[in-house]
Order: sequence, then C-alpha cells, then structure tokens
Amino acid sequence: MTDYKNPKLLINSNTIKSGRIAWRSPSNIALVKYWGKHGLQLPRNPSISLTLDKAYTETIMEYTTEGKSGDNIELDFYFEGKSNESFAEKIRKFLLNISDIFPFVKQIKFTVHSHNSFPHSSGIASSASSMSALAMCLCSLEMELFGTTYEDEEFRKKASFISRLGSGSACRSVYPHASVWGKTDDAKDSSDLFGIGYGEHIHEIFHDFHDDILIVSQGEKPVSSRAGHALMEGNAYAEPRYKQANERLSNLLIAMKEGDLEKFGTITENEALTLHALMMTSNPSYILMQPNSLEMIERIRKFRKETGLPIYFTLDAGPNIHLLYPHSIYEKVNPFILSELVPLCENDMVIRDRVGLGSVKI
Ligand code: DP6
Repeated sequence: MTDYKNPKLLINSNTIKSGRIAWRSPSNIALVKYWGKHGLQLPRNPSISLTLDKAYTETIMEYTTEGKSGDNIELDFYFEGKSNESFAEKIRKFLLNISDIFPFVKQIKFTVHSHNSFPHSSGIASSASSMSALAMCLCSLEMELFGTTYEDEEFRKKASFISRLGSGSACRSVYPHASVWGKTDDAKDSSDLFGIGYGEHIHEIFHDFHDDILIVSQGEKPVSSRAGHALMEGNAYAEPRYKQANERLSNLLIAMKEGDLEKFGTITENEALTLHALMMTSNPSYILMQPNSLEMIERIRKFRKETGLPIYFTLDAGPNIHLLYPHSIYEKVNPFILSELVPLCENDMVIRDRVGLGSVKI
C-alpha cells in the first residue's frame, strides 16, 4: 500500500529556508461520479473525469522558517487579494492532517495567496482546483527543501494522494486530459488512494473536447458535497448505486477508448441524473437542479434529436449544466448555444472551457 508518511522530512533547525512556489491547477468534471465515501477520504466507487483548462486556481505559497517556533501550523491566507480567515482555518487543519507525510509544515510560516479564474459567485466548486494547487505547492516545497527528486509521474501521484486528503475530486485534477480514481479491474494501477492519469487510454477526440459550463445559478449550494456524501450512508439505493457505478465505468472506458460518442453520451447523461436522483432519495431529501437546469436538458436533447449532433450534458453537485461536445461540431452547435442556452443562464453567464493538461508550475 502506498504510504507517504516520512518522519525524516524535517528541516535542520540551524538553517533558514525561505522562498516562493506557485502552481496553477484546473477543475475537473466527473463523468462517472464519486458520490459516497468512507474512512480517510476513500471513495465508495471508482470515478473518471475530464480535466478542464480555463477554470483553475492559482496558488502562490511563500514560506520561511525564520522566527517559527512551537509545534503549531502558522499560516496567513489571502483569497483574491483579501485575508480570509475561514479558508485559512480549513487549510491549517488540512496541513495538520498531513503533518505525518510532511512533518516540515510545522517548522514553517506560510503566507498563501490564491485566486480562481472563475468568479467566486459562479456556483462552481473550487475545492478540486484549489486543493490540488495547494498539494502541488507542498510537493514542490518538499523537493526544494530536501532536494528530493521525482519522475513527473511519481510526483503527480504523490500530489494526487495529498489532494485527495483535501478534497476527493481534487485528486483527479493533476493529470492531462482525464483521470480515474478508485480501484477498478478496468484500469491498470488504479487505486482508492490517488488518481491516475488516463489521457493516453482514451480516443484523441476527447483531448480537446468542449465543456461549456452554463451557470444556471450563481448562489451558494444549500447542501455541501461533504454533507451529500454523508447522506449516502443512509440511502436505500447506495449499494446498487456503487455496483452500477462500477459497471458504467467499465462500459464508459470502452466507449472512450473507441471514441464511441453515442455510448459516451448515454452513460454520461445517465450518471448526471443518477447523482441528482441520489440527492432526491437521500433522507432528508434535497434538490439542487433548478427549473432552468431541466429546461436546458430538454433543449439539448431536442436539438440532438433534430440534428443528430453528438452534444451531451452532465452536472456536478449543483444546478449548472456542463455541455460536452467534440471540437469538430463547434461551428454547428455554437449558434444553438448562444440563442437557446445562454439566455437561460443567470446573467447570461457561461464559462467556455475545454479539456486541458492538468496542473502546471507557474
Ligand atoms: C458531485 O470532491 O467535492 O462533484 O471529498 O468531500 O471534498 P469532498 O467532495 P467533493 O465531491 C465531488 C462530488 C461530485 C462528483 C465528482 O467530482 O466525482
């Protein structure tokens, strides 16, 4: 089992180390969803996602050992230029949680600046991009402090492991194109502990796939993902759902390998609606879709039926619609998007994203 605990990663107290590290990390959109977890951030079923490009977090980590004493975590956190104590507290907790992997976090004073490429009020979950950006910074910091060297793949695997401890879906953000997280016989080297890069195993049509994020509501979600995962524990459909997710993943991996868009779209849309059905059948039940989410789904399906074009949708844990289609049909679908879907968005807001290359050092 992968275990990154390393009590040796302590800075020699006679030397002062300071510096600055920065990473940009994107969000990702799950096709087979992670919904339900146990233990230390372990998924109840395997999931697969496409890595996004334009929706990202940039995190700049300044560190110094100068003047640091005691065993506590010292961190100032600025979000979009403003000091943010509630985010700071979450990150202090996270750093404390991983202090058996990176014991040096207790020897450092951190100042972290973070901003998102998308508006905070867009209703887009930022935990995947922000936690993966932070994990990348920490893994780079280990290399700078201790001269550790890693092959890129090993480095990303460790960063993925650490991202997972911050937010499950974040562990899939570090890789180009696509990532699988969760043990499955259908993906070699897959694990519950970290995501693996999966871009090489899918048809190249997906390497520049579009994901237009249609913002149905910019408000904060009434039920957090954390609470949603917890409600799966009492959900009567939980066990059959986990079995179904495994079967769907298996079929989706084949469809994605072959570039079979019809099969890809059918599974992806079923998954999105299953996720929301699980919310509706939780106790207490809740609904995150809004009237315009349903209206968009109707219009997308009608347009697809009329034109035969491979344009599909998915949703994450919120009302926004992610519109998925290959680049080759962009010119044909764009007028439909602008005239039929964008007017249903709150303040006409849409983030026109594509599949991207994962986390990059900046
Ligand atoms: C619906 O990763 O946000 O987007 O592990 O509690 O941070 P935590 O949950 P989170 O859950 C994401 C749920 C999802 C599906 C997915 O991304 O697979």
